Formats: sequence, structure tokens, C-alpha cells
Amino acid sequence: MCGIIGIVGKQPVADRLIESLKRLEYRGYDSAGIAGVVDGKVQRRRAQGKIKALEAVLADEPLNAATGIGHTRWATHGAPNVKNAHPHTAGRVTLVHNGIIENFAELKAELIAAGRTFESDTDTEVIAQLIDAELATGLAPLDAFKATLDRLTGAYALAVLVEGEDNLVLGARRGSPLVVGEGQGEMFLGSDALAVGPFTNRVIYLDEGDYVALDHDSHRIFDASGASVTRPVRVVPTSAVMLEKGNYRHFMEKEIHDQPEGCQRTIAAYVDTLTSRASVPGDIDFAKLERIQIVACGTSYIAGVVGKYLIEQLADLPVDVEIASEFRYRTPAIRKDALVVAMSQSGETADTLAALRYCKAKGMKSAVVVNATESTMAREVDVVWPIHCGPEIGVASTKAFTAQVSVMIALAIAAAKARGTIDAAEERRLVKVLLEAPRLIAEAIGLEDAIKEIAADVAKARDVLYLGRGPMSALALEGALKLKEISYIHAEGYAAGELKHGPIALVDDQTPIVILAPHDSYFEKSASNMSEVMARGGQVIFITDTEGVKHAPAGAKVVVTAPASDPLVSTLVMSAPIQLLAYHVAVVKGADVDQPRNLAKSVTVE
Ligand code: AGP
Repeated sequence: MCGIIGIVGKQPVADRLIESLKRLEYRGYDSAGIAGVVDGKVQRRRAQGKIKALEAVLADEPLNAATGIGHTRWATHGAPNVKNAHPHTAGRVTLVHNGIIENFAELKAELIAAGRTFESDTDTEVIAQLIDAELATGLAPLDAFKATLDRLTGAYALAVLVEGEDNLVLGARRGSPLVVGEGQGEMFLGSDALAVGPFTNRVIYLDEGDYVALDHDSHRIFDASGASVTRPVRVVPTSAVMLEKGNYRHFMEKEIHDQPEGCQRTIAAYVDTLTSRASVPGDIDFAKLERIQIVACGTSYIAGVVGKYLIEQLADLPVDVEIASEFRYRTPAIRKDALVVAMSQSGETADTLAALRYCKAKGMKSAVVVNATESTMAREVDVVWPIHCGPEIGVASTKAFTAQVSVMIALAIAAAKARGTIDAAEERRLVKVLLEAPRLIAEAIGLEDAIKEIAADVAKARDVLYLGRGPMSALALEGALKLKEISYIHAEGYAAGELKHGPIALVDDQTPIVILAPHDSYFEKSASNMSEVMARGGQVIFITDTEGVKHAPAGAKVVVTAPASDPLVSTLVMSAPIQLLAYHVAVVKGADVDQPRNLAKSVTVE
């Protein structure tokens, strides 16, 4: 994900922008740039590659400004080169952006038709052009900014300079985080508290949809409706590690909230937004491939099960998913013309590594879906499919899970197109659905207050059942695993159709039963399962969506309504409620959320 810094100051800003960008390097990037207001004019300095390349440019061409913005870019639209590096300028406007603008193509066409010319391939430049066009109508900078924000769909964190305004930086956030740093006679804007940490420990975390105007002495914050609002100022610890948690109590909480941005970054690596095509690196010929063999453990195994449903359904390609610790010892009947895909956040899990090596020894081509791209598995396979979600510190996997599922979705689309089971139009539709998923995940995370209210009750339970059908049966496994591993409450995930074959004997009025039922082709069946358990006194927590809630049977103890979504991405959207439920139950129980007893982040022993 990209990094952003903005400073409205009274002392030279170039070195301070660079210092801040260095604190954002952990986010990963391939180019960097800064801009500043010099005698009312905006000047830019940009470079491809690492920040030291930008420092070399500044050594040749110093930037003598007191107000400026900076950016580290992780390429989504357009190659990683100077032309596409941020900041981007259009007329009087220069800005930096983190996120993906979903409707940039139509906006760009409209602006070109209006006679505007573009210098880059990025979606970001469209935003600068829009603001400049609004300024040209006579609007003041803040009004031109708001008018532009109202036209954008997708995710953004923005920092904006306007020519002639050396005491102004504008900012806004939707789907990508942004904070205001309060200084003495100067103000700051940054992607996170780390970015502004060198200058202040007084941080304001902007809410979804907020936008802000900063000058030397003030920050005027507005909500999405344009109403002036006040957000709390938090004094954050200055130690870098603590800062990484921002205003979150645990890394797990932060990582749940990081998912919209994390998945955006993952998806951007596997789709081309200009052509609306999905692809995975490597020379895998999906048209000829007979079978995929997935080997994994824990949550990564569950992400593989989700992948099986989607790849088989879309691409008509057989997929076997096996728990690595079983697979490696049972002398599996495998064929060398299959592709083995290891799934592992760490890339170091001993059982998964052993299963992978077993398959390679049989002559199979190998791939790994992995977060740690320098890990052992990543070094041993033929093809690496990175999940790009940034470091995951909490032992319970959250953002890595949704990132893994995002890769599985892109793989399913690419394989289906290669095998001719979908045409170009359907591929474009599915890619658009996938690109919209981060926004829906952000909306689902907005259910947190409702989930918190449920957590107090669930925390009293001795056993919890999770039920789902189709890909939701995999999510039922994941919901149960999350709850078990951080709250220590016994939980089981079942395919809802299995209920009558035994588990229904567990149902009584003390057992919370979480039923995952978006309004998809399985909904009616899941609704009847819900009636079955309620008839026996079961206390149902019904997690559905805005379409399903209209058809839900009455009598659930609680109904949680996630945003409606295409079945292709419903597991991404429905993950947030089950992650938040596990998290808040663990908090109620006072458990050690980030370091649960007996668990390690990476199980490198058998
Ligand atoms: C998930 O919340 C657990 N931390 C655990 O099941 C984990 O997914 C499993 O150990 C596999 O780890 P890996 O993805 O690094 O291989």
C-alpha cells in the first residue's frame, strides 16, 4: 500500500517529508516523490525506485518550501516509473493518493472530452484534473475538493496542494487510513501515526468519509455530508512498534481494520484495471491443467477450501485441498501433471513445507500463495503468488486470510478465462466485482458496534456452533477457529447440511449458533436450518446481508446485516463479522488477543 505525508509548516519541509517517507517504507513501494509550494508555485521532485533515488534528485534540485506533500507509491494503475510516480499535477492542483478509484475510466473519458490532456496512466491524476476543473468554475479550494470527492467511487486517502495557497493542505479518506498530526504552529497529515511520529504525538484518526483543511494553526474537519465535526485528539506513544498499533488496542484489531486497504493492494497485483483482466504470475497453462492440489494448515487451509469452491465453479478445474499434516503421511495417489499450491502466510509452516516437498519430489509443478516472499517456501517453488498484505503480527490470521482468498478469486477468474468457461465480458464483470470488494469489506467492518453487543453474551458460552453452506461452510470453520484460538471457547464449524447427521444433538438454549447466510443460492436451505435449530431452543446469531434480511425467518436472537455482495466475493465481506466477533469475545474475556496461549505465529515444528 502507498504512504502519504503532508506538512503545513514554517520551516524547510523537504527533509522532513523524506524523514516521514522513510518511516512508511514498511508499506512497500516502487517509486517516491514530494512537492512543495515555492513562492505560490508548486514544484515537484519524483524518482523511480527507493527513497535514496529521490534524495539524489533533491541534491541536484533542492526544494525550498515550507508547505508540502510526499508519497511512496506501490503501483496499481500504470507502471512504476517517474511519469506515474506521485505527486500528480493538473493545472493549479498537485496531490498524492493511496487507494483505487473504481470509476476513474469514465471520469477520465469525460475530462478528455472536455479538452483536458493527461500525462500519466494513473487513476490518481483524474482526481487532480477534477479538482482543477472545479476550481476553474470559480469554486474555492475546499468546495472544489468536496465537489470532486462526491464524484469518486472507490478508496482514497489524499493530500492536496493548490497553487497560490502556501498555508493550506487538503486531505480526505475513504477506505484508506489517514491521520492529522497536531503541531505547534504547523499541522501534519499522514497515512498513519508512524508517518507524523517524527513531528508530533498528538494524532487525530479521521473517520471514513472525513475530509479536512489544514493551515498553520488549525484543522477544519468535515464528515461525508459536509458537516463540520470534531474528532478526538489522541496522544500516541512515540515508540515505532507501539505506533504501528495506532489507536488500536491489539495488532489483531488493527489488522482486521487494515483489510480494505490490504485487499485493495492484493487485488491490484492480480487485475489490470485498464483492461479489466485477471492474471497470476508464472507460465501455468490452465487450459491444459488437469488438477490443482492445495496443501496448507489452519486458516490457510480454510482459504484453500474457499478457493476450491470458486475455482471448480468458475473454471471447471478439479481442486483437492488437504491438511498438510495428513497429506504428507498418507501416501497420496497424486499425478505429476497436477499443480501443487501451498498456502501459507509465513511460508515456513513445517507440515505445509513437507507436503510441498513431497509433491515436488513426485515431479509436480509448484506454486505458493504467501505473504513472506523471502520465506523457505517462496524460495523453493516454481511460481510465487504474493498476497501483499503487509506484516501480520497478531497470531490469529485475519488480513492474511482475506488476502489469500483474494488471490484465490483472481486465480479462479484467470483460470476460467484460460479454459474458456467464461468470456471476456464475464471476466470484465467479475474483475469489477472483485475491485469493489474492499469497499464492501470496509462497510462490513462498520458492523463492529453491533458485533460488540453480541460478544458479551457469546463470551459466557461453553460451546458455540458455526454453520454455513457452500463457501460459507469454509467460513464456518474459520469463524470457529478464530473464536477457539483467541477466546479459548470450544467452537465447531459445520456444513449446515450436516446438522441433522449428529451435531443437532448439541443444540440447546445455552449454545449460541452462528449461521452464515448471505442471500445466495444456498440461502433458502440455510434459512430452514435456522428454523430447525430454533425449534429446539437454539440461540441463533444470523449473519446475513441486506437482501437476506428481508427473507430471514423470525426468531433469531440476533440478526447481523452485512452489505449485499456478489457470491464471488461474499466470503471476503462475511469474514469481518466473524473476525470481529472472535476479537470482541476475547477482549471481554480478557484473553491475550495477539499472543494466545500455546500458539505461535508460524509453526515451524511438526
Ligand atoms: C490462524 O489464525 C492460525 N494462526 C493458524 O491456523 C495459521 O493459519 C496456521 O498455523 C498456518 O500458518 P501459515 O499460514 O503461516 O502457514
